Order: sequence, then structure tokens, then C-alpha cells
Amino acid sequence: MEHNTRAAFIRQMLKDESTIEPSPEFSYKALVKSRQDYDELYRRSIDEPEAFWGQMARETLDWYRPWDAVEEYDFESARPFVRYFRGAELNASANCLDRHLEGPRRNKAAFIWQGEPSEEVEVYTYQRLHREVCKAANVLKDLGVKKGDRVVLYLPMIPQLAIAMLACARIGAVHCVVFSGLSADALRDRILDSGARVVVTANYGYRSGKILHLKDLCDKAVDQCPQVRSCVVVRRIEKRTEMAAERDLWWDDLMAGAAPSCEPARMEANEPLFVLYTSGSTAKPKGIVHGTGGYLLYASLTMKYVFDLKETDIYWCTADAGWITGHSYLVYGPLANGATSLMFEGVPSYPKPDRFWEVVEKFGVNTLYTAPTAIRSMMKEGERWVNGHDISSLRLLGSVGEPITSKAWLWYYSAVGRGRCPIADTWWQTETGGVMITSLPGAVDMKPGSAALPFFGVAPRVVRPDGSEAAPNEPGSLVLTRPWPGMMLGVFQNETAFKDVYFPQPGRYLTGDGAHRDEDGYLWITGRIDDVINVSGHRIGTAEVESALVSYLQVAEAAVVGCPHPVKGEGIYAYVTVKEGTVINDDLRSQLVRHVRESIGPIATPDHIHFAAALPKTRSGKIMRRILRKIAAQETEDLCDISTLSEPSVVYDLIEETKRLS
Ligand code: WT7
Repeated sequence: MEHNTRAAFIRQMLKDESTIEPSPEFSYKALVKSRQDYDELYRRSIDEPEAFWGQMARETLDWYRPWDAVEEYDFESARPFVRYFRGAELNASANCLDRHLEGPRRNKAAFIWQGEPSEEVEVYTYQRLHREVCKAANVLKDLGVKKGDRVVLYLPMIPQLAIAMLACARIGAVHCVVFSGLSADALRDRILDSGARVVVTANYGYRSGKILHLKDLCDKAVDQCPQVRSCVVVRRIEKRTEMAAERDLWWDDLMAGAAPSCEPARMEANEPLFVLYTSGSTAKPKGIVHGTGGYLLYASLTMKYVFDLKETDIYWCTADAGWITGHSYLVYGPLANGATSLMFEGVPSYPKPDRFWEVVEKFGVNTLYTAPTAIRSMMKEGERWVNGHDISSLRLLGSVGEPITSKAWLWYYSAVGRGRCPIADTWWQTETGGVMITSLPGAVDMKPGSAALPFFGVAPRVVRPDGSEAAPNEPGSLVLTRPWPGMMLGVFQNETAFKDVYFPQPGRYLTGDGAHRDEDGYLWITGRIDDVINVSGHRIGTAEVESALVSYLQVAEAAVVGCPHPVKGEGIYAYVTVKEGTVINDDLRSQLVRHVRESIGPIATPDHIHFAAALPKTRSGKIMRRILRKIAAQETEDLCDISTLSEPSVVYDLIEETKRLS
């Protein structure tokens, strides 16, 4: 059987190298069964957005009060804005929990939590989750948190993270989740920017068998944030923990005394649900603001369609809830649909490279949503790790975070999906709230490496620098010419950034990604074309790493670019010049690496530190990043024109040094 499907798959690959049709069995049972059905839904979403989103909003969510207008926006003016469902009222936590309690979903698993230690498993039914969320909401209220207040959550992948998010949503507080792999300095900056007075953390966490000292990091951050009044600490590991009198409180103690019911706050659709920080081209991360109504509708609807959700699915999104993928497709999307979402604390490679497959087998996972970097890391270890497990429960696969190469795609399709499971490649961003471009499973033919076609309401265009439409297969910049309900509302505490960063040219939202559209209308995203590096699916701003480097005493100047990396996709390549009299040696190199890790977090660990005598600059003093990128990628044959450089010899020295380093 196994062999037959594989043989059929290979036959098809030989027949038509570029396109893979979803299997008729899958399409037959799918929510959208054909390309024709997709085309029709898409056409309606673009031609009649008000009717389309109005109907979807009525059918998808529970509202306390209907809207006065479905869609209002301005992409043209100096003050662009977007707004969906003005005047409507709803509560996100009530939509994720309360409405499922009336029917049989009451006793259905909302979350299945698998800890990193394999014996640690917890199941939260909708009813249990509801009680915990209500208690946590009351805890926050007792700490003085009010509607509109920000609460920073610095937690590992444990159920309390989702509970705290939903508790904030319940009382109208705005959660700001900070990924638990970020450093104390990064946490401090986000707490300060958000103005949060309450922080929720854990005493420790697990990561690849090692213990994270989260409370220590949190203390370091909070000690520099005078506005923080309370720090609530989840006891993840029984181990000595320093608690500051007055400020630090145990989660369990507070929860034990909290009442298990809490009236949800009525939120206007455009009141913020959360702020999530992401890197851009400035040294300071931006707080992306998402609203309540549009965001929840979009997360819920994309969840349902992109993952062809079935009532009985066990659905597993491997992303950390510290990122947007976890917000939309681990918490809000699944719960709004009454689905069962698997939450996993561990990593693919620990204790062995088959951990994912062990988890899939253990829980009978039907849909797996993961990232190309994870796929590549498992591919590297060999197929035998997959073959050792019965993963035949899988029905659908998803990919997100960076372009997936056709090699990784085919491995995912054949070694994991056995040629039976469609792959939904999903292109989107923190700012977009939910999936924007995807190969809708069952309906749309797949092309390995292409994210395929726009989701309902999404209007992508590939444009040239002058704004004109690129020809088929001509690379250009990916822009979006109309809004969609999941669109960010703004940048927190920064009036001008929305316009400056996303609408430098009026009329269209700039994604920052490069792309081309092929003759079939399929979109191929090639990656960032701004100053952002995509490391293992995480955005790292080059300016952030540079600012960390130059904050080191001996560093005079730094320029950071991305370079190809076999597992991470892109690695971090840092050019550094040092101050007079500094001795350059391996010790300095490792101190710099450590310094960046401490400033930002381990995800920003530079892969290469290249000490340079000077950096190539234009006569006006601008660093020539294009050249530095080429040198880092060892593509020095065609450096093009370096005649505008103030000192071309600098480039030859850099090339020599790169050869020596490799
Ligand atoms: C950037 C957004 C929301 C997804 C998680 C990352 C890149 C994301 C794909 C994909 C090609 C992708 C883009 C995008 N990206 N998914 N399927 N194909 N590129 O969210 O941290 O906001 O990063 O990730 O470059 O702009 P994020």
C-alpha cells in the first residue's frame, strides 16, 4: 500500500514536474472541493467585500452588537487606516470558549499539552479551559488590570501562556507576549514600550533538555522597569526561586483563591486584542497592534479553510505562542473554531530527531503545521527517523515562516506525507494577522516552492520600483492593494510608522518581500528585500544586531547582512571594525557573539564575525550592503559596479578575508 502510493507519486512527478494535484479523496471531503469553487469564493470576496465579510462575520463569530459598517479604509492619504466592523461588540475569549460550552464541545479537548519531558501531558477540555481562563481573568482584575492595560507574558510553551492570553482578552486587557527565548534586555525594552505594569512569567523552562532561568531573566528586565507593580510567576519546575516581597506572586496561590466565573468585557471590534513586537529595519522592534473583531474573524476563517478543519481533527501547530503563528493558529484560530489544538513544549531534535513523529503517533495528529527550518533539520537526519513511527493519521501538512525549497517540499510531501497529504504552504506576516497566500488544500493544485494563490479578500501585486506591474516571472516587490480583516491596526505608541513603514508609496501596503508571479498566476515568494534577515523563520532586523554590536566597548562600526545557511535558511553575517589598539582574536569574537545573545537572544547569534579593517562605503558615507551581502554569500564574481565606492580596495580586502575564513 505504502509502496503503491509512493510509486504513484513518483509517476506523477515524472509526468508533470511542476504541478501536483490534490488527491480526489481529499478534494471530495474538503471544505472547498475544486479550483472553480475557490475562484468563485475569491471573486465574491474581491467584488463584494462588504457582503462577503459581513456574511462571514455573522456566520463565524458571536457578537453582542452588530456593526455600523463592515469595511472602511484609506490606503492613499498621509494618514492611512483600516477598520472593520465599526461599532460592533464582541469578546474574543467568549468566542473561543463560552459559546462551545452549550453543546457537546463542552467536554472536547481544547488543548492537549505535551511537555518536553514525555511523561508530562495535560488535557484541557473547553469547560476546564473556560474555568481556568475565568480564574486568571479574576486574578488580573485583582491585580488592578483594567480594560486597555497592557500585560506582558514572558512564558514558555505551557498551558498558562494560552490561559493568560485568553484571560487578558476576557477583561479587555492587551496581551504582549514576549518569546521566552528572548533576552532580559529585549524583554525590558518591550515591557517599557508597552507600559505594562503586570508581567507574567515562569520560574524556569525547558529547552532541549536544558533549563531556562526565566525568572532570573525577568528579574533583570523588571528591575529596570519602574512601572511594573506585579510579577506573577508560574511554577514550571520545582526548584528554588527567588521571590521579591510585594512584587512577585505565585500564579498557583493567586489562582487558588480566584472565582471560576468572569463576565467577558464587551469590546468594540477595533479595540486592541494584543500587541506583538516584531523586527523591522530600525534598531527598535515595532509593536504590531491587532484589533478584536477583524483579527478574530480572519484567524478563525483562515484556520477553517486553510487547514480544512474537521470537527474530530487533532491539529498541531508547532510554532511557539510567542510568535504570531502561535497567536493565530495555536490559540485564537483553533479555539474560535472549537478545534483540538496540540501544544508542544519541546523541539524536533530532542531527545532524538524523531520527537515530532513520536508526538504525531502518540496523539494521532491529523494536521501538522510547521516551518521549513524544522523540515530541513529533520531531513538532514534521514528518513529512518520518520519511518520508525506510525504517522498514518496525518491528512494535511502546512508550512510557514520562509520560502520552502522544492527539495524540502518534496521531502515533506513524500517522507512525511507519503504522497497522500496535500501541503498548504502559507505566506503571511505578523502584520497580516493570518494566512494571505496559500495553496488551499483540496481545491488548488500545488507547485513545490510556490505559496500559490491569495486567500479570500487578499489582493497581491508584484510591482517594479516605479510601481508598475511586473511581467510574468519578473521579480519585483510584493504589495497588497486592499485591506483584509486580519490587517494590523497600527504600530503601538508610534503614529507615523504605519504610514512610513507600510505605505511609503500611497495606495498599497508594502510587505517587504520579493516575489514573482508565474504564467499560471502562482506567486513565488523569494524572501525579504528590506533590512530584515529570516533566521529559522524568525525576523531579525540587521539594525538590531548592529546596534547590539556597537554597544560593545571595542567595536567601532558594524554592518550585518544575511547569508545562506543550510538549516536556518539565512544565517547572520556580521562585519565588524574595532577601535584603535584593540587586539583581534578568537576571544574577542566569542565575547561579541555572547554580547549579541545577551542583548537580543540566542536566535540572533551571529554565525560569522568578520573583522574588517574598513567597510565599503559610498562617497556620501553609506555602507554598501549589497556588496557585503554578495561577499558573505561568496558570490564575488559579479560584484557589479563598485566605482561609486570611496575606496574600492576595501572590497578586495574583504573578499580575501572571506576566503581565508571559509
Ligand atoms: C516574513 C514574516 C507569519 C508567519 C511567521 C513569520 C517570511 C513567512 C512564508 C512563506 C515565504 C515566508 C516572509 C514574511 N515568510 N511565511 N510561506 N513563504 N516566506 O512571521 O516573523 O512576521 O515574518 O516571513 O519574508 O515577510 P513574521
